[in-house]
Amino acid sequence: MACNDFMKRGKSVIVVLLAAILFGAVSVSAAEESNKLVVNADLGKLTISRHIYGHFAEHLGRCIYDGIWVGEDSPIPNTRGIRNDIVEALREIKIPNLRWPGGCFADTYHWKDGIGPKESRPTIVNVHWGGVTENNHFGTHEFLDLCEQLGAEAVICGNVGSGSVQELAQWVEYVNFDGKSPMADLRRANGREKPWNVKFWGIGNENWGCGGQMTPEHYAEEYRQFGTFVRSYGDNRVFKIACGPSGDNYEWTEVLMREASGGWRPMMSGLDLHYYTNTRRLSRTRGNFRIIDRSGPRLSRSATEFGEEEWLAMMQQALRIDELIINHGAIMDRYDPEKRVGLYVGEWGTWHSVEPGTNPGFLYQQNTLRDALVAGLSLNIFNNHCERVRMANIAQTINVLQAMVLTEGEKMILTPTYHVFEMYKVHQDATLLPTNLQCVNYIDEESGGEGMPPFGRGRGRGRERTPALNVSASKDESGKIHITICNLHPSESAKLDCELRGAKVEKVSGRVLTASSITDHNTFDKPDVVKPDAFKEFELNGGMLAVTLPAKSVVVLEVE
Ligand code: AHR
Repeated sequence: MACNDFMKRGKSVIVVLLAAILFGAVSVSAAEESNKLVVNADLGKLTISRHIYGHFAEHLGRCIYDGIWVGEDSPIPNTRGIRNDIVEALREIKIPNLRWPGGCFADTYHWKDGIGPKESRPTIVNVHWGGVTENNHFGTHEFLDLCEQLGAEAVICGNVGSGSVQELAQWVEYVNFDGKSPMADLRRANGREKPWNVKFWGIGNENWGCGGQMTPEHYAEEYRQFGTFVRSYGDNRVFKIACGPSGDNYEWTEVLMREASGGWRPMMSGLDLHYYTNTRRLSRTRGNFRIIDRSGPRLSRSATEFGEEEWLAMMQQALRIDELIINHGAIMDRYDPEKRVGLYVGEWGTWHSVEPGTNPGFLYQQNTLRDALVAGLSLNIFNNHCERVRMANIAQTINVLQAMVLTEGEKMILTPTYHVFEMYKVHQDATLLPTNLQCVNYIDEESGGEGMPPFGRGRGRGRERTPALNVSASKDESGKIHITICNLHPSESAKLDCELRGAKVEKVSGRVLTASSITDHNTFDKPDVVKPDAFKEFELNGGMLAVTLPAKSVVVLEVE
């Protein structure tokens, strides 16, 4: 997928503006410019792993306790302590996997404290997140029960930072060994006869930071040692996931791929890149370099009170994941040209200020249409890179960061981000269709020097370009084609001519997610302010599809 700039846009805008002055014409909008999409319906070769649509639930704030786990005695309807409304909502988006127990929490967690009779489990102080004391009632059995209720694969993140090799090896044995052994017998004594056969095991989390402040060289050694003892039992082949880089830490990827991706054992199945989208760090291009711009005005970090500057900043930050995947992927290609090791984006999503009045350590934030656009464009990017990106986990499922669901006692609401996951579920395990997109830029301005748009003064000169549209497409098992399109422009609709090359089109339908304002969101009083609607703004003319995308929208088209 490529979005070519329309180089002549500047000139044509001047011509039309002059015409407007001379002849009283109406204002120019992006809708009047042409955007073209070619979907190569007969050229699909790669599968979009359903695991790209994965989730992440950490012991953090009200994600696990309150959000998922209410206990068997709660008046909130539950199955063995797990909220029924949450399970139903997550099943609806076909949640493929769930990463647990962290996050930073993972490298403080000792799994044996979370098994056995609940009343005799020791407590744990959650040192990273609010310093609260947890009772360990949600442990291995409860998490794996949740995964079974959801029909999702478990992704268990082991403790490297403060745990031992033996502790992790025993956890794997406890969870996966079918024969007779001390750990398998302990599992049986705790009420579970058969192993769960968990495939995905993370070897630590963010070990460059909260997981032990390690250098890449040191972590590579730890990975090799810990990973050696994460064994496959029976027919269950485990996927070992190494702690990956944060953002653009290319050195981390280089060292890990060089030192720990191959060899006899352990093999690395995934490298776990973490990247959050926020307004704290504005990176921009100066020459060939990305610089962090701290010179502009401070942008609002509020989840719900922001203007177009913050909207744009978030879109630009989110689009940057494309560049990160390309660059980390290029390093991985040198060590792994067969693409055996997946790039897993184990934590991604928006990170705003917490909601006023809530515990800063709980990371509870609202979720607006802006978050939905970030989700839509990120998922399109992951789809388009599915040859290397095999798993991604949005942070986090309930009540934390870019959540799917927010709860308040027995009440729950679905966020705009949830709706994007629901609309995009059609891509899970479908065949990626190569696309070619030519589109106008939402921002295409000279930057640098005084008054660099849109953030104020800058130090370098360059061009600030942000494409208005972002797309991915796939074909499912039944032959249906799905195209997901984001229009990032907050106020201008866009016309898009779609050519479905190699397809015989008989029927088209669509759905759209948009709202009146960029800050619109769902609340417990008004839970349906942002929700998908039927989409009819398209015409089919002899195989060409002419679509008008509303401003600030996510659209899914189904072509049969
Ligand atoms: O998702 C919140 C935190 O962000 C995670 O615990 C950590 O891995 C990351 O820094």
